[in-house]
Amino acid sequence: MPTAEDAPLERRVGQGWDRHRLEPRAPKGAGKPLVVGGVELDSAYGPVAHSDGDALAHALTDAILGAAALGDIGQHFPDSDPANRDLDSLRILERAMELVRSAGWRLVNADVTVMLQRPKLGDARPRIGENLAAALGVGPERVNVKAKTGEGIGVVGRGEAVEASAIVLLERYPS
Ligand code: C5P
Ligand code: MG
Repeated sequence: MPTAEDAPLERRVGQGWDRHRLEPRAPKGAGKPLVVGGVELDSAYGPVAHSDGDALAHALTDAILGAAALGDIGQHFPDSDPANRDLDSLRILERAMELVRSAGWRLVNADVTVMLQRPKLGDARPRIGENLAAALGVGPERVNVKAKTGEGIGVVGRGEAVEASAIVLLERYPS
């Protein structure tokens, strides 16, 4: 009698991307605190967003939903819903991972990139990885955090936006 372990392992890759416009922090502008992967960075500019504007958490949420063929973040957590206003995006990531896990998937790894002209991630980087891993329910060794400036050009380079991209691998034994 074949066991579940004998069945071929299914693997799915998923990618996600997000961008938030940056403005001077309130009261000068409409910018909220600049939160990346659940860590508030020291910046006079922050995202204009309905939620907390954590582009990295949003990109990663889309990546896991994508790998599981579960659509995207806006379908599950619409920004028109007042319940999602100012919602901690790590909680959105956590809830999306619950959906993904309910479909039988486990996360093999996640590799993410933050595109931000300034500030440099510096010592926030390990905390960002730990936050994302905790929300995903995996060890920090499964999550890699990279960062790029915009080389002073384009929307990122001019400091007009923070962007993030993510790629993940999921696996499950077919039921
Ligand atoms: O964009 P650039 O290639 O010049 O970035 C060089 C390095 O600076 C990146 O590999 C990354 O380690 C770091 N970086 C960062 N935080 C940013 C942008 C870049 O830590 N906001
Ligand atoms: Mg977003």
